[in-house]
Amino acid sequence: MQHFIVIGNPISHSKSPAIHHAFAQSLGLDIQYNRQFCPDDSDSFRAVVEAFFYGGGVGANVTLPFKEIAFNMCQTHSEHAKTAKAVNTLVMRDGKLFGDNTDGAGLIADLLSHDIDLDGKQVAIIGAGGATRGVILPLIEQGAKLTIFNRTLSKALTLQEDFKAFAQIDIKSLDDLANGHFGFEVLINATSTSTTGQSLNISPNLRANVAYDMMYGKPSAFLTHFTKQGTRLLDGYGMLIHQAKLAFELWTGKQVDLNAVLLDQ
Ligand code: ATR
Repeated sequence: MQHFIVIGNPISHSKSPAIHHAFAQSLGLDIQYNRQFCPDDSDSFRAVVEAFFYGGGVGANVTLPFKEIAFNMCQTHSEHAKTAKAVNTLVMRDGKLFGDNTDGAGLIADLLSHDIDLDGKQVAIIGAGGATRGVILPLIEQGAKLTIFNRTLSKALTLQEDFKAFAQIDIKSLDDLANGHFGFEVLINATSTSTTGQSLNISPNLRANVAYDMMYGKPSAFLTHFTKQGTRLLDGYGMLIHQAKLAFELWTGKQVDLNAVLLDQ
């Protein structure tokens, strides 16, 4: 039997074990996937990861607040992990710890599964933290033209600088978000406001064909704002499923057919 874990703090709410067990069941694989609580310090995280792989564990997911520590711990990285500077998927390759980041590709896969084409389209992201960093390169790779709105302008400018080799990113303030006239194919909320229960001030003249909240499982003031505009509304549950699918495929080498997977939301 192959062993997997998801490491986080907090971790008791994680849906990853149910998702991965459902993937395994659909393929007739016998796996054990557990939640692993870890104290919030890098030494503890390193100890947990080392003990897990030393004990024969096959793959680990990493969630908040350890994605950056995981990135620093890995000896090799995927291109997406390198640009995200964060890792959500760990595996041993040739005796070296390899880190991938499937969050951004998970978002793309979810959008594509809803027939949302990004090529040449204007896509805006609100927020300039780790969640945003993880999705920038995958969005650029799809041909999206990016705008980032952020409260702290300097953080958005750092992202603009870090990704300038890949594409030019347009930077806007929260004042622009509150008062501007804009139209986007997709507007993504990657701030932590939905988790903290705060709301964003969004201009009535800001239109989007699709509003996407990376958060899931709670009512979203961000999505509610768009209910009367005929905007398509999506929450982050699809992204969660798709990032998990990509991690599972990396670990097992098997393709998951989501149509054959039984999941309760
Ligand atoms: P994560 O790793 O989940 O992205 P983070 O790095 O703490 O978390 O980033 C949170 C993002 O939400 C940031 O862009 C933050 O804005 P700042 O860069 O100005 O800190 C944004 N954010 C959090 N609370 C916000 C609020 N009340 N209004 C607007 N943006 C907010």
